[in-house]
Amino acid sequence: MTHEPGTTVRPQDDGTLRWGVLGATSYIATHLMPAIAATDGCALTAVASRPGRAAAAAELGRPFGAAAHRDYAALLADPAIDAVYIPLPNTDHVEWTLRALEAGKHVLVEKPMAMDEDGCARIEKAAEAASRTVMEAFMYRFHPQQRRAAEILASGEIGELRVVRASFAYRIESGSGNIRLDPDLGGGATWDVGCYAVDAPLLFFGRAPRRVRARFSSRPGLAVETSAVATMDFGEGRSAVVDYSIDYGPRAAYELQGTRGTVMVRNAWAMSGEDGVVTVLTHDGVREETVPAADHYQLQVEAFARAVRDGVPAPMPLSDSRRTARVGSALVASAAAGGAAVNTADDASGAL
Ligand SMILES: NC(=O)c1ccc[n+]([C@@H]2O[C@H](COP(=O)([O-])OP(=O)(O)OC[C@H]3O[C@@H](n4cnc5c(N)ncnc54)[C@H](OP(=O)(O)O)[C@@H]3O)[C@@H](O)[C@H]2O)c1
Repeated sequence: MTHEPGTTVRPQDDGTLRWGVLGATSYIATHLMPAIAATDGCALTAVASRPGRAAAAAELGRPFGAAAHRDYAALLADPAIDAVYIPLPNTDHVEWTLRALEAGKHVLVEKPMAMDEDGCARIEKAAEAASRTVMEAFMYRFHPQQRRAAEILASGEIGELRVVRASFAYRIESGSGNIRLDPDLGGGATWDVGCYAVDAPLLFFGRAPRRVRARFSSRPGLAVETSAVATMDFGEGRSAVVDYSIDYGPRAAYELQGTRGTVMVRNAWAMSGEDGVVTVLTHDGVREETVPAADHYQLQVEAFARAVRDGVPAPMPLSDSRRTARVGSALVASAAAGGAAVNTADDASGAL
């Protein structure tokens, strides 16, 4: 199948969306690749590694019957691929998303789509020009417990949203060789777990904050920030308090506090075998709702494939990715300026 830029693209005649993966990563092999393979109308067709690592790509692809390509460019040149999933180091997301779009592929790119707003804007422009779907892979958004929290908020049970508290962490050991500890590969807590801590308040307030302040700290011997505490001012008495870390043990929690109560999600990263739990606290007492286990990776793949097939906007809009990138960059700028306020408004209205 060839893709002509400027046309609406559908997967091949039988409707199958044929996926290629750039980078043979173990985490992805156990999470996203099985999700693609298990999704109706999707096929995991090929995996590519950097030159010299074709064996890794072949090994990862074998259980799924996926071919191995000698490098990323070769996979992009393969006309048997409709969509590309990009789990590369953060510094490579923009370049390879743009190259995939140029090659006529739809793209699901890992978070962060870009480490600044300009990168997202370039991708948005290229996607529009190529008439291809691009979506940032914020898998947690697809878990039904997040939808349930949003429904409770929309029902008015907790009143008007005033504060979002988000806290995301897991520990990465020094000397582990993890890409997240390498500043040259876009490492640091902000562009890893911080993406979730930034996204949650923006998702539930449905807009960017007016300004943010952040303080970072680094584990001795590491050249990236490993923990952060930040505040966001959404105006009119609304705010967010977030913390994130690759120093501490695991945590993926957020709270939505309104004028009448609070909704709490204690494990926003609930994996496929774990139920979600949403707790609601009001003056009437505490209620705990169990949200049946779901595979957010597969729900994400299904949603992306639907957007491609039906030619409808992806459920994680590019405008949200731009905002998240803008706010993430502002946290970095604020921390560099000793915690000074940095403007992040959607328009000039939040100017300091
Ligand atoms: N949404 C989620 O749940 C989730 C979970 C984990 C990771 N992620 C995201 O996925 C991305 C990759 O994270 P990861 O933990 O999977 O990383 P990883 O295990 O280190 O894998 C990254 C892959 O990128 C390729 N690569 C290209 N240039 C590289 C370089 N200079 N150094 C190292 N690897 C390089 C390698 O594949 P080849 O050698 O085969 O080319 C490598 O296997 C990140 O953006 C991260 O935020 C998301």
